[in-house]
Amino acid sequence: MSSPAYSTPEWYLQAKDKDVSSDIGRLTIYHLGFRQATEGTLVFAPLDFSSVPRDILDVGTTDGLWMRDVQSSVPAPPHGEHTFMGTDINTSFFPTTNSKNITYVKQDIKDAVPQDWHNRFDLVNLRMILIAAGFASSQRDVVNEYIKTVRPGGWIQIGDCDRVCPTPEVENPRYHDMFACIRAVCRASGLDPLEAPKMKSWLEEAGLEEVQERRAMRAVGKRNEDEELGRLGIEADLIIAKGFASAAKGLSADFKPLSDERCDTLVKNLEQELKETGAHFPMRFVWGSKPL
Ligand SMILES: C[S@@+](CC[C@H](N)C(=O)[O-])C[C@H]1O[C@@H](n2cnc3c(N)ncnc32)[C@H](O)[C@@H]1O
Repeated sequence: MSSPAYSTPEWYLQAKDKDVSSDIGRLTIYHLGFRQATEGTLVFAPLDFSSVPRDILDVGTTDGLWMRDVQSSVPAPPHGEHTFMGTDINTSFFPTTNSKNITYVKQDIKDAVPQDWHNRFDLVNLRMILIAAGFASSQRDVVNEYIKTVRPGGWIQIGDCDRVCPTPEVENPRYHDMFACIRAVCRASGLDPLEAPKMKSWLEEAGLEEVQERRAMRAVGKRNEDEELGRLGIEADLIIAKGFASAAKGLSADFKPLSDERCDTLVKNLEQELKETGAHFPMRFVWGSKPL
């Protein structure tokens, strides 16, 4: 059997120590790109960190970068300290050095959450993780499961990628091809790549209040005014394009999105497109509060 495409849920399931450093590097660049695209916003929910200690859950945390960045940027309460828990299916991503008030727990998002997590967290964050849930209603089911972990009055926020190139095909033909490969490989593995636009309605229909949505474009290559982050963004996207183009080429005719020739030349041509034109990686963030 061929090995799973880089960064798909199957890949994460099998990723071992040797794979981790490259993926942490890529995800760090994505994190910096998302942060830049949202003018530094890591917590979209209007949660007050300055008055009381908060309990925060980050689902699919990888190495906990989002938690560490939040911890160092929010105000400290007058008494006590904010506490963070990060979960992931792959414990080899977890840092080997301890950070104060941050714990890591192995947990598959497809499993029910432990009973003692119910109604516990002030903020639950799920970023770039729902795709791992699978097809049909499974992503929504995961959201409903994690809403159980939010305390009344607390917040859940979800960030995910639309997986459709937001600029016209004439402008970004290869970025379109990259997303076509991503969608095809996800679908062939039984995953739904196009659920992000539905996330807001899931929160509303679950009875959450003050539900909001914000779209943000991670700028890649020439489109990034920060030249270094733009350059790093190209490297990160080429890692993805390489894995998905090669996996897409191996798909059966029913799923194959591009000719073999276009799959073979995607990385080289995309590199040129990102250097000369740049691109936007479309993210969507939604958040809502559990009624008191
Ligand atoms: C694309 S990364 C996102 C990391 C981080 N949330 C971020 O926004 O940078 C996906 C993470 O989800 C984890 N993951 C994949 N499948 C999972 C599952 N079924 N349950 C829990 N974590 C999973 C992977 O190991 C990886 O750390």
